[in-house]
Amino acid sequence: MVGQDSGASTFKYNEKPVYTTSNGCPVESPTAWQRVGNMGPLLLQDFHLIDLLAHFDRERIPERVVHAKGAGAYGEFEVTDDISDICAIDMLNGVGKKTPCVTRFSTVGGEKGSADTARDPRGFSIKFYSEEGNWDWVFNNTPIFFLRDPTNFPVFIHTQKRNPQTNLKDATMFWDYLSTHQECVHQVMHLFSDRGTPFGFRHMNGYSGHTMKFTKPDGSFVYVQIHLKTDQGNKTLTNEEAGKLAGDNPDFATQDLFQAIQKGEYPSWTVYLQVLDPEQAQKFKWNIFDLTKVWPQGEVPLRKFGKLTLNKNVENYFAEIEQVAFSPSHLVPGVEPSADPVLQSRLFSYPDTHRHRLGVNYQQIPVNAPLKAFNPFQRDGSMAVNGNYGANPNYPSSYRGLTYQTVKPTNSHEKWSGEAVTALFGPVVDDDYVQAKGLWDVLGRTPGQQDNYVQNVAGHLSGAHQATRERTYEMFTKVTPELGQKIKQATEKEVSAGSNL
Ligand code: HEM
Repeated sequence: MVGQDSGASTFKYNEKPVYTTSNGCPVESPTAWQRVGNMGPLLLQDFHLIDLLAHFDRERIPERVVHAKGAGAYGEFEVTDDISDICAIDMLNGVGKKTPCVTRFSTVGGEKGSADTARDPRGFSIKFYSEEGNWDWVFNNTPIFFLRDPTNFPVFIHTQKRNPQTNLKDATMFWDYLSTHQECVHQVMHLFSDRGTPFGFRHMNGYSGHTMKFTKPDGSFVYVQIHLKTDQGNKTLTNEEAGKLAGDNPDFATQDLFQAIQKGEYPSWTVYLQVLDPEQAQKFKWNIFDLTKVWPQGEVPLRKFGKLTLNKNVENYFAEIEQVAFSPSHLVPGVEPSADPVLQSRLFSYPDTHRHRLGVNYQQIPVNAPLKAFNPFQRDGSMAVNGNYGANPNYPSSYRGLTYQTVKPTNSHEKWSGEAVTALFGPVVDDDYVQAKGLWDVLGRTPGQQDNYVQNVAGHLSGAHQATRERTYEMFTKVTPELGQKIKQATEKEVSAGSNL
């Protein structure tokens, strides 16, 4: 790798590395600075001081607009039970298969420095680094949510932010929303029970909440909801305990998670699915796209399939947790979003906020980078730090995997839920050449225009590889054989003259 270690490795405190400026120039002392004489002003040439101040001035990135306070760790997911009858996802195929992951737990409404024990739902996010791409589970610790209309999300969240004038939390705003959007009442029951103040992050469950689809290559699918049940046992705080901890140790849950892993007490969760086939879903009492409803476990039993274990703390909180970017749209082959409108909105919102919070190349930040990625159509942009796909051409017609998909099979159920098709105009047909022939004829009405056209193409095309030239002659021959022939002749003449190669 070109370039130097820019702080990626950790020095032991007693190793005493040589201190440098950001461009690697050793500096006499970290506190060195320059001035004119003994009492004079500072110097613009003092890169060390200016470098230090300028970097300090830019240390903050936007905190997450929700879920700003959180903690995380690395771990692994292991498949414990076979679900190949309903699932084609590579990382879930094969009992014993393990996939590395990073997790982040959070409160929702408070700022980055707010108390871990606030009465709030908790976020429960996991990024799996699978062989077929990163799959993110961006879950909460409650199986339901306050709303089912996506437009309500920003409105509802703003009721928990600060009053614009007083800069205080505002109970009127909050309860005004809840009492005027009463579909929230199930979630409010959770929130104001002791479940609303979990004992740290290790003693709570995680739920997809949303319905998702596990799909098979033949176009069949089932609807699923995912549950992670804590192996540490559910534990909650009373209102009094949570309030006291908020003052005594606002980072209680962060500390509890870090110290447990440091001691080797690795927290784990047993992972289950609820499954409905499309016909069952259609007849189900509850709308499966309504996020305010659970699938009662008496009617849709849990099916165990895996175990999540957290076994490694991060080295650098900012690099690995503040910069981690989860999205429900980071999916892998075999899983698709359902038509739940809140989920559909989230598919957009997360990558959108990542581009704002972390930049357009957020997927290149090491904690977000997939094991393998090859997408040279996405080039350049701010902080293209991963080699930017090197010398790979911009227009990769010969890359593997770029075969055009045909429209997926649909069934009567999809007519019910709304049919999703892969929108492509499909293969080129004879009609595509008709209007081009028309223009060739129009050019023929003005003397010299057809010749100019042929020469203009030839001058450009002669710089292309032979296989590309041949394919282009075929294209023009389909417009009219005369045009194909003329372009071929003129182009090959240019090639022979070697003017463009
Ligand atoms: C329309 C509805 C929703 C919208 C627009 C929305 C939007 C967002 C945004 C913008 C973030 C900040 C992400 C970041 O900066 O990295 C976020 C974080 C998060 N959201 Fe949502 N959200 C919605 C509903 C939900 C629901 C229903 C759940 C759970 C089932 C959920 C779980 C989370 C979690 C866990 C995080 C924290 C991710 C992390 O740890 O980095 N959100 N949400």
